[in-house]
Amino acid sequence: MPKPKLLSTHKLFEAPRKLLDEHFEVEYWEKAGRPPRAEVLAQVVDKEALICLLTEKINDELLNAAPKVRIVSNVAVGFDNIDVAACTRRKVVATNTPGVLDETTADFAWTLLMAVARRLVEGDQLTRSGAWPGWNLDQLCGADVWGKTLGLVGFGRIGRAVARRAVGFGMRIIYNDAIPVAPDVEKQFNAQFVERDRLFAEADFISLHVPLLPETRRLISTAQLEKMKRTAFLINTSRGPVVDEAALVAALEVGQIAGAALDVYENEPVVHPGLVGRKDVVLAPHIASASLETRTKMAMMAAENCVALFTGKRPPNVLNPEVL
Ligand code: DGY
Repeated sequence: MPKPKLLSTHKLFEAPRKLLDEHFEVEYWEKAGRPPRAEVLAQVVDKEALICLLTEKINDELLNAAPKVRIVSNVAVGFDNIDVAACTRRKVVATNTPGVLDETTADFAWTLLMAVARRLVEGDQLTRSGAWPGWNLDQLCGADVWGKTLGLVGFGRIGRAVARRAVGFGMRIIYNDAIPVAPDVEKQFNAQFVERDRLFAEADFISLHVPLLPETRRLISTAQLEKMKRTAFLINTSRGPVVDEAALVAALEVGQIAGAALDVYENEPVVHPGLVGRKDVVLAPHIASASLETRTKMAMMAAENCVALFTGKRPPNVLNPEVL
């Protein structure tokens, strides 16, 4: 029996490749960088499975070009790049990679939070520049983190992993989500549900952990930024379009908030020019889940989702179970 054909738009890592090669005839995008759209559309034509990254738009155009495809396996937990309804209409299974990146992403939300509060990037630049005049009492004074109030917008797996770390900093933890979690979960994380406006008004650090949905797009815009303390910082490791970048730049410009640390952007890889020159922002290139261990696990999970479907099992992370 010939093996089913699979397209992977990334070369992946050794372990997931080994697994895939056992079960599929795989065409990998072996080059650095992302494949041009036209290449993906051409390569997917005869494939029965597709492993893609969040940089690929899985929409009608792609699905029309892939008449044989039975599964679209995203190597990411966020799946706003996939038109799941379009997959469902064609009985194509869509999968993602939840769970494996929570702790790594929470580590990075904290990396950003600490970096912006304690002015690490400015300090690094000064130290390297050769212009550091030596210790001084008022040099690069940032903001304390310990003992402050952390506001979590979204209290799912990643939000909770961020909360768990805050306990060690003696922080007060408040959160907002569609519905409050059970009291025993709040107790476990030392967290208190508050209405969103109150969270914006009281938090010293606001960290975003919501998926990109119509209702979370531009959740952070002028009205919310105006509710924040002038001493507060905004941290975003969720999705760029959750923040209205022009509004954020305007808020920073007038000192409406103290700073921001971002891993994600409205129009990646384009970064709003108003952010680039600012000292009160820390900018990272969408790397919150980028530890080698975690990225390997994500790729493995994407591979396992494909193998499961083609060996007659239920893929573990199906986004549209109605097609099974
Ligand atoms: C995701 O998985 O959605 C991240 O943005 C990349 O790890």
